[in-house]
Amino acid sequence: MAKLHKDLQRLLISEEAIQGRVQEIAEEISRDYDEIGSLYIIGILKGAFIFLADLARELSIPHVVDFMAVSSYGKTASSSGEVRLVMDLREPITDKHVLVVEDIVDSGQTLNYLLKTLSGRKPASLKTCALVRKERESLDIQLDYLGFTIPDVWVVGYGLDFADTYRTLPYIAELKKTVYSA
Ligand code: IMP
Ligand code: MG
Repeated sequence: MAKLHKDLQRLLISEEAIQGRVQEIAEEISRDYDEIGSLYIIGILKGAFIFLADLARELSIPHVVDFMAVSSYGKTASSSGEVRLVMDLREPITDKHVLVVEDIVDSGQTLNYLLKTLSGRKPASLKTCALVRKERESLDIQLDYLGFTIPDVWVVGYGLDFADTYRTLPYIAELKKTVYSA
Protein backbone atom coordinates (compact mmCIF):
# COMPACT_ATOMS: atom_id res chain seq x y z
CA MET A 1 0.00 0.00 0.00
CA ALA A 2 1.17 3.53 -0.78
CA LYS A 3 2.53 5.50 2.15
CA LEU A 4 0.13 8.15 3.45
CA HIS A 5 1.07 11.78 2.72
CA LYS A 6 2.10 13.71 5.87
CA ASP A 7 -0.88 16.11 5.69
CA LEU A 8 -3.35 13.25 5.87
CA GLN A 9 -5.19 12.03 8.92
CA ARG A 10 -6.27 8.58 7.73
CA LEU A 11 -6.86 6.52 4.65
CA LEU A 12 -10.56 6.18 3.81
CA ILE A 13 -10.61 4.40 0.45
CA SER A 14 -7.58 2.53 -0.86
CA GLU A 15 -6.41 2.58 -4.47
CA GLU A 16 -7.43 -1.07 -4.84
CA ALA A 17 -10.93 -0.43 -3.45
CA ILE A 18 -11.41 2.52 -5.80
CA GLN A 19 -10.28 0.57 -8.86
CA GLY A 20 -12.55 -2.36 -8.00
CA ARG A 21 -15.59 -0.14 -7.45
CA VAL A 22 -14.96 1.90 -10.62
CA GLN A 23 -14.94 -1.36 -12.57
CA GLU A 24 -18.27 -2.40 -10.99
CA ILE A 25 -19.92 0.96 -11.72
CA ALA A 26 -18.69 0.82 -15.33
CA GLU A 27 -20.24 -2.63 -15.73
CA GLU A 28 -23.52 -1.41 -14.24
CA ILE A 29 -23.63 1.62 -16.57
CA SER A 30 -22.70 -0.51 -19.59
CA ARG A 31 -25.57 -2.89 -18.80
CA ASP A 32 -28.09 -0.10 -18.24
CA TYR A 33 -27.26 1.71 -21.49
CA ASP A 34 -26.72 -1.39 -23.60
CA GLU A 35 -30.11 -1.18 -25.33
CA ILE A 36 -29.97 2.60 -25.71
CA GLY A 37 -26.59 2.13 -27.38
CA SER A 38 -25.19 5.61 -26.76
CA LEU A 39 -24.15 7.73 -23.85
CA TYR A 40 -23.18 11.38 -23.49
CA ILE A 41 -20.95 11.71 -20.44
CA ILE A 42 -20.45 15.07 -18.78
CA GLY A 43 -17.48 15.24 -16.44
CA ILE A 44 -17.53 18.04 -13.88
CA LEU A 45 -14.16 19.78 -13.67
CA LYS A 46 -11.85 19.80 -12.08
CA GLY A 47 -12.56 17.14 -9.49
CA ALA A 48 -14.04 14.43 -11.71
CA PHE A 49 -11.24 14.20 -14.27
CA ILE A 50 -9.44 11.20 -12.78
CA PHE A 51 -12.59 9.24 -11.89
CA LEU A 52 -14.02 9.95 -15.34
CA ALA A 53 -10.83 8.86 -17.12
CA ASP A 54 -10.84 5.51 -15.31
CA LEU A 55 -14.60 4.99 -15.55
CA ALA A 56 -14.96 5.86 -19.25
CA ARG A 57 -12.14 3.50 -20.24
CA GLU A 58 -13.98 0.60 -18.59
CA LEU A 59 -17.27 1.20 -20.44
CA SER A 60 -18.22 -1.35 -23.07
CA ILE A 61 -20.80 0.86 -24.80
CA PRO A 62 -20.23 3.72 -27.29
CA HIS A 63 -19.88 7.03 -25.49
CA VAL A 64 -18.86 10.65 -25.94
CA VAL A 65 -17.11 12.65 -23.21
CA ASP A 66 -17.65 16.36 -22.64
CA PHE A 67 -16.88 18.63 -19.71
CA MET A 68 -18.39 21.41 -17.65
CA ALA A 69 -16.67 23.40 -14.97
CA VAL A 70 -18.43 24.87 -11.97
CA SER A 71 -17.23 26.60 -8.87
CA SER A 72 -18.83 27.72 -5.67
CA TYR A 73 -18.61 31.26 -4.40
CA GLY A 74 -16.91 31.44 -1.03
CA LYS A 75 -16.17 27.72 -0.87
CA THR A 76 -14.20 26.72 2.19
CA ALA A 77 -13.43 23.31 3.63
CA SER A 78 -16.60 23.45 5.69
CA SER A 79 -19.25 25.27 3.69
CA SER A 80 -20.27 25.59 0.06
CA GLY A 81 -21.50 28.80 -1.44
CA GLU A 82 -23.55 29.63 -4.50
CA VAL A 83 -22.76 27.61 -7.63
CA ARG A 84 -21.40 29.37 -10.72
CA LEU A 85 -20.95 27.97 -14.24
CA VAL A 86 -17.32 28.50 -15.25
CA MET A 87 -17.20 26.51 -18.51
CA ASP A 88 -20.12 25.17 -20.51
CA LEU A 89 -20.45 22.15 -22.80
CA ARG A 90 -19.21 22.27 -26.40
CA GLU A 91 -22.39 20.76 -27.85
CA PRO A 92 -26.14 20.91 -27.26
CA ILE A 93 -27.48 17.88 -25.36
CA THR A 94 -31.00 17.92 -26.77
CA ASP A 95 -32.27 14.34 -27.26
CA LYS A 96 -29.05 12.84 -25.89
CA HIS A 97 -28.76 10.28 -23.09
CA VAL A 98 -26.75 12.23 -20.55
CA LEU A 99 -24.80 10.99 -17.54
CA VAL A 100 -23.30 13.61 -15.23
CA VAL A 101 -20.13 12.40 -13.51
CA GLU A 102 -19.14 14.16 -10.29
CA ASP A 103 -16.29 13.48 -7.89
CA ILE A 104 -18.11 14.05 -4.61
CA VAL A 105 -21.51 15.10 -3.35
CA ASP A 106 -21.44 17.09 -0.13
CA SER A 107 -24.42 19.44 0.35
CA GLY A 108 -25.80 18.43 -3.04
CA GLN A 109 -25.95 22.07 -4.14
CA THR A 110 -23.62 21.60 -7.12
CA LEU A 111 -25.38 18.54 -8.49
CA ASN A 112 -28.82 20.10 -8.00
CA TYR A 113 -27.70 23.19 -9.88
CA LEU A 114 -26.34 21.05 -12.73
CA LEU A 115 -29.51 18.95 -12.93
CA LYS A 116 -31.64 22.06 -13.10
CA THR A 117 -29.48 23.63 -15.80
CA LEU A 118 -29.13 20.48 -17.91
CA SER A 119 -32.74 19.32 -17.71
CA GLY A 120 -33.78 22.66 -19.23
CA ARG A 121 -31.89 21.66 -22.38
CA LYS A 122 -34.23 18.72 -22.96
CA PRO A 123 -31.94 15.67 -23.02
CA ALA A 124 -33.54 12.31 -23.82
CA SER A 125 -32.54 11.18 -20.32
CA LEU A 126 -30.46 12.57 -17.48
CA LYS A 127 -28.71 10.49 -14.84
CA THR A 128 -26.04 11.14 -12.25
CA CYS A 129 -22.95 9.33 -11.04
CA ALA A 130 -20.67 10.26 -8.14
CA LEU A 131 -17.70 8.38 -6.78
CA VAL A 132 -18.26 9.55 -3.22
CA ARG A 133 -21.00 11.08 -1.14
CA LYS A 134 -20.77 12.36 2.40
CA GLU A 135 -23.02 10.96 5.06
CA ARG A 136 -25.49 13.71 5.85
CA GLU A 137 -28.92 13.72 7.42
CA SER A 138 -31.12 15.60 5.00
CA LEU A 139 -29.59 15.17 1.59
CA ASP A 140 -32.23 15.28 -1.10
CA ILE A 141 -30.39 14.41 -4.29
CA GLN A 142 -30.91 12.14 -7.27
CA LEU A 143 -27.87 9.82 -7.46
CA ASP A 144 -28.21 6.97 -9.93
CA TYR A 145 -24.69 5.54 -9.51
CA LEU A 146 -22.61 5.89 -6.37
CA GLY A 147 -19.22 4.49 -5.43
CA PHE A 148 -18.87 5.05 -1.70
CA THR A 149 -20.45 6.83 1.25
CA ILE A 150 -17.94 8.42 3.62
CA PRO A 151 -18.10 10.37 6.91
CA ASP A 152 -18.61 14.14 6.78
CA VAL A 153 -14.92 15.13 6.80
CA TRP A 154 -12.73 16.91 4.20
CA VAL A 155 -11.17 14.37 1.87
CA VAL A 156 -8.54 14.61 -0.86
CA GLY A 157 -7.05 12.40 -3.54
CA TYR A 158 -8.27 10.71 -6.74
CA GLY A 159 -9.27 14.10 -8.19
CA LEU A 160 -10.37 15.66 -4.92
CA ASP A 161 -8.42 18.66 -3.72
CA PHE A 162 -7.87 21.17 -1.01
CA ALA A 163 -6.76 24.51 -2.52
CA ASP A 164 -5.94 22.63 -5.75
CA THR A 165 -3.46 20.33 -4.03
CA TYR A 166 -3.44 16.53 -3.47
CA ARG A 167 -5.58 15.74 -6.56
CA THR A 168 -3.27 13.11 -7.97
CA LEU A 169 -2.94 10.91 -4.91
CA PRO A 170 -4.18 7.43 -5.94
CA TYR A 171 -6.32 6.94 -2.82
CA ILE A 172 -8.93 8.99 -0.93
CA ALA A 173 -7.96 10.15 2.53
CA GLU A 174 -9.08 12.52 5.26
CA LEU A 175 -7.09 15.75 5.38
CA LYS A 176 -5.69 16.77 8.76
CA LYS A 177 -7.80 19.52 10.29
CA THR A 178 -4.65 21.51 11.02
CA VAL A 179 -4.10 21.80 7.26
CA TYR A 180 -7.49 23.13 6.24
CA SER A 181 -8.32 25.24 9.25
CA ALA A 182 -4.89 26.91 9.29
P1 IMP B 1 -21.70 20.36 -2.78
O1 IMP B 1 -22.22 21.38 -3.76
O2 IMP B 1 -21.74 20.86 -1.36
O3 IMP B 1 -22.34 19.00 -2.93
O4 IMP B 1 -20.16 20.21 -3.05
C1 IMP B 1 -19.73 19.59 -4.14
C2 IMP B 1 -18.38 20.09 -4.58
O5 IMP B 1 -17.59 20.60 -3.49
C3 IMP B 1 -17.63 18.93 -5.13
O6 IMP B 1 -17.81 18.84 -6.51
C4 IMP B 1 -16.19 19.23 -4.74
O7 IMP B 1 -15.60 20.01 -5.73
C5 IMP B 1 -16.29 20.03 -3.50
N1 IMP B 1 -16.11 19.20 -2.28
C6 IMP B 1 -17.04 18.91 -1.35
N2 IMP B 1 -16.53 18.17 -0.35
C7 IMP B 1 -15.23 17.96 -0.67
C8 IMP B 1 -14.14 17.26 -0.02
O8 IMP B 1 -14.26 16.66 1.07
N3 IMP B 1 -12.95 17.30 -0.65
C9 IMP B 1 -12.75 17.94 -1.84
N4 IMP B 1 -13.73 18.60 -2.48
C10 IMP B 1 -14.97 18.63 -1.90
MG1 MG C 1 -16.09 19.20 -7.87
